[in-house]
Amino acid sequence: MSVQVVNKINDLINKIKDIKAEGKTIALVPTMGCLHDGHKSLMLKAKSLADIVIISVFVNPIQFCPGEDYDKYPRTLDNDMLVAQSAGVSIIFAPSVNEMYPGLQKFSDLTMVVPPYELTDIMCGKSRIGHFDGVETVVSKLFNIVQPDYACFGMKDIQQLFLIKKMVKDLNFPVEIISCPLIREESGLALSSRNKYLSAEAKIKAITISQALFAVRDSFNAGIKDAKKLLDTALAVLDKDIELEYLEFVDKETFKTIENIESNTICAIAARINNVRLIDNVLLEV
Ligand code: PAF
Repeated sequence: MSVQVVNKINDLINKIKDIKAEGKTIALVPTMGCLHDGHKSLMLKAKSLADIVIISVFVNPIQFCPGEDYDKYPRTLDNDMLVAQSAGVSIIFAPSVNEMYPGLQKFSDLTMVVPPYELTDIMCGKSRIGHFDGVETVVSKLFNIVQPDYACFGMKDIQQLFLIKKMVKDLNFPVEIISCPLIREESGLALSSRNKYLSAEAKIKAITISQALFAVRDSFNAGIKDAKKLLDTALAVLDKDIELEYLEFVDKETFKTIENIESNTICAIAARINNVRLIDNVLLEV
């Protein structure tokens, strides 16, 4: 069967009622579109878990900070339909901004879901003020609309994944969050919709982001546990045109910053090349 695009919340709710009445399970993959193989791996995982896979394609304005790429974020619904179809997706929910946030004038008019400050005053949340409030708010709305049994999120956005798991636990959403592995190009570059912004030359430089993380992992495996030394290892590998926003070591279970690295530590990076912001991470474990 071919994938259906649904734009209205009420139409989707009616379809969900029918799906549930048939006793079928639902897996949701929230996305902002511009789908690539990383997203496809989430959809295939979703398909392996549930009878019906629903993806959302919605560039969520309230998770972009002033001056970020909301306006130019690639919108490629025709191609997204092909990718979704090839992964066995049943429904693409692609609402307008007005459908999701009717009459929205300013973000402060909305009821928001806000994660704890200590967990957002690090890594991406530190520079993208309010970003995770926007993410958690839209994901909560999607959970309420779709009522999925499962929801799949990628480990590239590791802080987002951690915060969504916590939100689901704290607010008792009846959904199981499935963590899916980060997918890389053969070069090592983490797949991202924002890779589309990179020129061929910038892409070659961007590859040093994953190479820096792999060098950190190698040094850690060779016995270096000091965060400062591991940071120096990364800096030695990063292309000189790459602007480092952060390289942080956090505990996998608590997301607390770590100075002396033990096992189960996430080493996460955000960096800009030609003003394109990319993120990546690796797990350090013994
Ligand atoms: O990871 C993303 O693409 C977005 O943050 C999400 C989860 C779809 C919410 O808009």
